[in-house]
Amino acid sequence: MALRAAITAIGGYIPEFRLTNEILETMVDTSDEWITTRTGIKERRILKGEGLGMSYMGIKAVEELFEKRGIDGSEIDVVICCTATSDMPVASSAAYICNKIGAKNAFGFDLQAACSGFLYGLATGSHYIESGRYKKVLIVAGDKMSSIIDYTDRTTCVIFGDGAGAILLEPNEEGYGVQDSILRSDGYGREFLYIKAGGSMYPASAETVAKREHYVHQEGQQVFKFAVTNMAEVSAQIMERNNLTSDDVNWLVPHQANKRIIDATAQRMGIGSEKVMLNIHRYGNTTNGTLPLCLWDYEKQLKKGDNLIFSAFGGGFTWGSVYLTWAYNPS
Ligand code: UT7
Repeated sequence: MALRAAITAIGGYIPEFRLTNEILETMVDTSDEWITTRTGIKERRILKGEGLGMSYMGIKAVEELFEKRGIDGSEIDVVICCTATSDMPVASSAAYICNKIGAKNAFGFDLQAACSGFLYGLATGSHYIESGRYKKVLIVAGDKMSSIIDYTDRTTCVIFGDGAGAILLEPNEEGYGVQDSILRSDGYGREFLYIKAGGSMYPASAETVAKREHYVHQEGQQVFKFAVTNMAEVSAQIMERNNLTSDDVNWLVPHQANKRIIDATAQRMGIGSEKVMLNIHRYGNTTNGTLPLCLWDYEKQLKKGDNLIFSAFGGGFTWGSVYLTWAYNPS
C-alpha cells in the first residue's frame, strides 16, 4: 500500500479578547443584524500585547499539539508556517517557531497563499512524508489579521479575526491520510483583494501610511462571486475524480470567510449542514487559521476512516481542495 501522510495530532490557539458585533457597532457604522445575516459572524478574537506577532499564536498551538502527542521539538523534520501576517517581512516566522519549540533538527519556511495557505501547506507537507525521507512534518497556520485591518473600514473590519492552529503529519501505511489535492491560483484576482503598500512595488513611506495603504483592501462582491463559484466547483471536482458521492463524505471542512459561501459549497456537493464544520460565528475569518481551527474544534467528533473534504478560496486568487481520510479515533 502506498505511503500516505496522515494527520496524527492537532493543536490550536485563540486569543482571549472577544471583539463582538456589539463592540463593532460602537466603532463603525454597522449592526449586529447586518454582520450576522451577511456573514454569519458574531464575534472574533483579537491578539493584544506589545510585540506579539503571528508566531506567538503558532507556538502556543504547537505546544498544545506536543503535549497531546507526547513528543518534543527534536523529533520534527520540517515546519511549514502558513501565514499572510508573518512576524516580519524578511526573517521567516517558521525559523523563529523552530527555535522556540526546540525543533533543532528541522528546517522551516513560511508559505504565503492567503486564505488557501493551509491547504497548500497540507499538500506540500504530505509530499515530504510520501517521499519517505521525512517522518514528522508540522504545519503551523494562522494569522494576526488585526495587524493589517483598518478598524475604520466597515467593509473589512467586521470580517477578520486572529487565531492559529497546528497539525502534525506522519507516515501511515494503512492508507489513511491525504488522498488527493487540487490547488489552483489566478493572479487576475489581485486587483480585488490586496494590501497595496509595504511590498517591493510600493515600499513603506510616510505617504503610503498617510493613504492607509498598509491595510487590507477588498472588493467584497467581486471576491464573493469568485469564491462561491470556485470553492464549490473544486470541491465537486475532487469528489468526482475520487468517485465519492455525498453519502461517502463525512465532513466538509470549508474556509470560514462567509457562511453564505460555505452553504453554497455544501449545496453544490449535496452535503447537509450536519456534516459541515463551522466556527465562523466564534472566530470570524482567521485566514490561514480557519481550517486547522475547524479540526481543533471538531476533533472529538472525528473517527478513523472518516472522509474529509477541505476547501478554501482566498486572495491572489488562490483556491483548492484536499481529500483526506482521518487516521485516529477520539481518545
Ligand atoms: O477569505 C478571503 C476571501 N474573502 C471572501 O471570501 C469574502 C467574500 N465577500 C464577502 O463575504 C461579502 O462580499 C462581504 C461580507 C464582504 C460583503 O457582503 P455583501 O453582501 O457582498 O455586501 P456588499 O459589499 O454588496 O454591500 C452591501 C451594502 C452596501 O451598501 P449599499 O451600497 O447597498 O447602500 C455596503 O455599503 O452593505 C453595506 N455595508 C455594510 N453595512 C453595514 C458594507 N459593509 C457593511 C457593514 N455594515 N459592515
